[in-house]
Amino acid sequence: MVDYYRRNSLPLEMHKVCIVQKTEIIPVEERVKAIRKAGFNTYRMESKDIFLDMLTDSGVNAMTNDQLGAMMTGDDCYAGSKTYFRLADKIKEIFNKDYFLPVHQGRACEHMLALAYVQPKPGSIVPMNFQFGTSVGKIQYCGGDFVICIAEEGLQKQSANPFKGDFDLVKLESVLKQQGGNIAFVRIEAGTNLIGGQPISLDNMLAVSELCRKYGVLSVLDASLLQDNLHFIKTRENAYRDKSIREIVRTMSDAMDIIYFSARKLGFGRGGAIILNDQKEFEHIKSFVASFEGFPTFGGMSVREMEAIRVGLDDTMDEDTISQGPQFIEYLVNELEDAGIPVVTPPGGLGCHIDAMKFVPHIDRRDYPAGALASAIYIASGARGMERGGIDEPWADPDEEPYGSMELVRLAVPRRVYTVSQMNYLIDRLLWLYDNRELIGGLHFETNAPHNFYDALEANSDWPERLAEKFRRDFGDSL
Ligand code: F0G
Repeated sequence: MVDYYRRNSLPLEMHKVCIVQKTEIIPVEERVKAIRKAGFNTYRMESKDIFLDMLTDSGVNAMTNDQLGAMMTGDDCYAGSKTYFRLADKIKEIFNKDYFLPVHQGRACEHMLALAYVQPKPGSIVPMNFQFGTSVGKIQYCGGDFVICIAEEGLQKQSANPFKGDFDLVKLESVLKQQGGNIAFVRIEAGTNLIGGQPISLDNMLAVSELCRKYGVLSVLDASLLQDNLHFIKTRENAYRDKSIREIVRTMSDAMDIIYFSARKLGFGRGGAIILNDQKEFEHIKSFVASFEGFPTFGGMSVREMEAIRVGLDDTMDEDTISQGPQFIEYLVNELEDAGIPVVTPPGGLGCHIDAMKFVPHIDRRDYPAGALASAIYIASGARGMERGGIDEPWADPDEEPYGSMELVRLAVPRRVYTVSQMNYLIDRLLWLYDNRELIGGLHFETNAPHNFYDALEANSDWPERLAEKFRRDFGDSL
């Protein structure tokens, strides 16, 4: 953020654009057709119909010219490529971990860890600050289960707590005590995806690691969203204000037994990595990588991506680079909050999260308020967000639909991709939509069978067309 002479502060892009991709806004009537065709599910949309793609921050972050250049130096070789050793050296330099296993993306790390530590102990438990679908999916598939240990405030949508991703240490210790040898490992998610990209403090991570040592269990850090979390430690945690990003990473890394990450998020690439210091554990996990991912010096990643990640990890140590995403999110959240739009606070990483149950309180939970709002946002702006609510909720009992406990729309902010003027356009359309929220209606599935997050829905009425008509009346020929 920089201070302005004649207006309130704004985020300032700390890069210049070298390569651009053309994008367009299709007319509002076409947007209604596109969202209908996609079954009111933004996952099913085609990118050609989208103006601002804010579905995710995964695998969509812009690369630098240095990354693109480095990709050309990739040493394409099945075993023992120079690329592997260059990336391993960078990981050692930043994280101080001796062993590195490449895999094709974040969920593959989770698969490997579940095979290595959950499967051999059927019924074992993984305590974690919060769950993420891909993480717990692998744990359950391998016969284990998870326990959420988030501090109570983490679940409050509006709060001033700077670290809503912190563990409740008392709860964690009691789980560790009760479960004894039944713990596969403790998973620490930094930051927490499903509660709005909220960060965990370094002190809390260190305390969790101490507890793991006390009870003799492995500490496993999911560092997929670490980039934003590092910015928050540096700016919100007083004890670390004077530490460099590299020092913060080193302190954190030294306290963890295993670190894994989706390099679709951390490192501005597309891939994944598991890193650790214990040679015996490395050999154990490596056997699964060789069977399921690829030879352990590429693990399913292309060497070009591995070179891009090497340079991207260095960029992640730069404060200007890592503050960009959180500043855009803070700007979005503050502008929307000032206009009375209900958003998750404080601003976190990953994206801006809108509270659909408050935005469209007239839509019953069984009519998928967040799904309806995500569709309406697309109609109003051409921006694609993601429903985080009842449509996404896994069914434990096939006869009873679990309606979402939170109904959020996530507008992810891909790193270095969009500009402040594009955010201003989005904010304006969201303000218009909020003033016209009564026009938004609900959604339904055609059958009552258990559904998936990528299944199609129908609108409960012709509300999408009526919303588009109002848009035309208010905006005339404007897109
Ligand atoms: N852990 C966290 C905290 C994540 O946010 C993700 C992915 C993963 C693991 C899995 O990584 O996608 O490379 O397999 N989150 C994406 C998202 C899908 O859109 O939030 P992956």
